[in-house]
Amino acid sequence: MSGFVVWFTGLSGAGKTTVANIVEAELEQRGFVVDHLDGDIVRTHLSKGLGFSKEDRDANIHRIGWVASRVARAGAAVIVSAISPYEEARRHARTLVEPHAPFIEVYVATPLEECARRDPKGLYAAAFAGEISDFTGVSAPYESPSSPEITIDTTGVSPSESARVVLEALERMAVTA
Ligand code: ADX
Repeated sequence: MSGFVVWFTGLSGAGKTTVANIVEAELEQRGFVVDHLDGDIVRTHLSKGLGFSKEDRDANIHRIGWVASRVARAGAAVIVSAISPYEEARRHARTLVEPHAPFIEVYVATPLEECARRDPKGLYAAAFAGEISDFTGVSAPYESPSSPEITIDTTGVSPSESARVVLEALERMAVTA
């Protein structure tokens, strides 16, 4: 089987990890070797010690992009879920991957209001109260992808339905064939 990278980008609380977990399980079910690089987990290992300045986020995304390219080149399906708010850093990750494997950017376009309403980690409340600085969408930018391969909005949609949309798109692009 050929490797590929499915890169979920979007605001905190948009649903990236939740949908990515389902896509991961489904691809495993179909016989793929899958590696899921999730921002929160990567930041406890590969990117331990990095913060949320533009410089540190770019370093985080470059590291994830590099690992993703290596793992996809070895034939696995790589799922990335990280805010990855800067277009240039995402483009850099793509240029690392594309010589070896397809790179599919999934824009999880759930609006800020919905993410802040969900606030699963209480971070939006803290950011609005000024207790967290450089918080994406509140006090740090999120640059929407200009040409993602797939766009989903998880507002009012079940996680499994969102995952189905992603998987069907992957099938249409023939990366999961
Ligand atoms: S990225 O910008 O470098 O891609 P990444 O996805 O790894 O971010 O990490 C984001 C996670 O870190 C969020 O889901 C949240 O739990 C946590 N976090 C802590 N501080 C911040 C912040 N200032 N901005 C965004 N996320 C933060």
